[in-house]
Amino acid sequence: MRLSRFGEKMTNDTGICRLMDDLGEALAGPREMLMLGAGNPAHIPEVQKVFRGVMEDILSRPGEYERLISNYDGPEGNKEFLEELATLFRNEFGWNITGKNICLTNGSQLSFFMLFNMFAGDYADGSRRKVLLPLAPEYIGYADSGLTPDFFAAVKPEIHHLDEQTFKYMVDFEALEVTDEIGAICASRPTNPTGNVLTDGEITKLAALARQNGIPLILDNAYGTPFPDIIFSDARPYYDDNTIVCMSMSKIGLPVVRTGIIIAREEIARRVANMNAVLSLAPNGMGPALLGPLVRSGEVLRVSREMVKPFYRRKAFAAAAQLREALRDVDFHIHKPEGALFLWLWFRDLPITSHEFYERLRARGVLVLPGHYFFPGIDEPWRHKQECLRVTYAGPDDIVERGLAIIADEAKKAYAEAKSAVAVK
Ligand SMILES: Cc1ncc(COP(=O)(O)O)c(C=O)c1O
Repeated sequence: MRLSRFGEKMTNDTGICRLMDDLGEALAGPREMLMLGAGNPAHIPEVQKVFRGVMEDILSRPGEYERLISNYDGPEGNKEFLEELATLFRNEFGWNITGKNICLTNGSQLSFFMLFNMFAGDYADGSRRKVLLPLAPEYIGYADSGLTPDFFAAVKPEIHHLDEQTFKYMVDFEALEVTDEIGAICASRPTNPTGNVLTDGEITKLAALARQNGIPLILDNAYGTPFPDIIFSDARPYYDDNTIVCMSMSKIGLPVVRTGIIIAREEIARRVANMNAVLSLAPNGMGPALLGPLVRSGEVLRVSREMVKPFYRRKAFAAAAQLREALRDVDFHIHKPEGALFLWLWFRDLPITSHEFYERLRARGVLVLPGHYFFPGIDEPWRHKQECLRVTYAGPDDIVERGLAIIADEAKKAYAEAKSAVAVK
């Protein structure tokens, strides 16, 4: 089959596609597998009850459901909902925005595809620009979203040791260079895969750098405030008219409605709406229908703060404590859990690659994500890339506990094997 460059690029079997297939196959097999790999949000019964209530209310009102499923929204999404969102952001954070600053998309994954290719790639003047990721590791879902080759530039982080077993990545501003080759800066905050939350100071500096260079700062707020608020540190949300804040309905518990939210200068929001019209006519209306009443009443804040955040915080700290205890005797470090659904584990001087570690865990019935996938834009060899794993703690407690125990056991085995190999020599 002959394919265009676009066809080749977008349909290629990337490493992560193969890995996801592999995880899917493992789960479909006869053996019980402990899933600590995927990024699906947890099923939180009390949150599900809230959304069930909204749906029941829709169904109970004559004609409401029929109206909901039968009409396209405009390409920017349900206008009433956009105004309600703007009111929420104004009231909560004092952001100077109206509904015209907001555009919905069919999932924030699509938001990034649109925004990245709006600001990076080939320009009419013949130049080619990249997206700069100021701190890698960064979200794997960005990696294949660029339409031109060599789409990302990334900077290795500073590693700050907070205690014997805890570290935090920070942006290495000395190494961060915004050249003419850069079309936008992007960071997820909280970060998938590490659970890092860029500090207010880092964000202010990045925003200033972006403005000085006449390029936007894209902040991926899929796990941030005001919803789903899976954030355990004291970071302030950030927006200015040179920043594009991307939100998602997925992590509060609605991944199926495929709704992303872009907050930006009016001209950017308008252009994204135009692109929606080309790519998909209109954003899904089910998201606004299910989340809208909670945004209108402010209930979305309570659900996030009182149900979603504590649920994940408890699980994050329990998982981290279990690993710290089990891995006291090896050179193990854990990224400070500040948000999102993941723990990022660093086994310093791990004698096997992260892929081999993944394979060994898979053979013992535990699925995780090997860390080396999470460094888009960092092509140079760097041992650290092979020493990390991402684990999701969102699943049922007993599965997470059993999975983590096996991870600890396999890590200890790998270090011990290397030690005995050295001793034999
Ligand atoms: C950091 C980050 N951004 C964006 C997304 C995409 O989310 P969605 O397309 O479901 O809105 C995810 C999903 O896991 C994510 O982790």
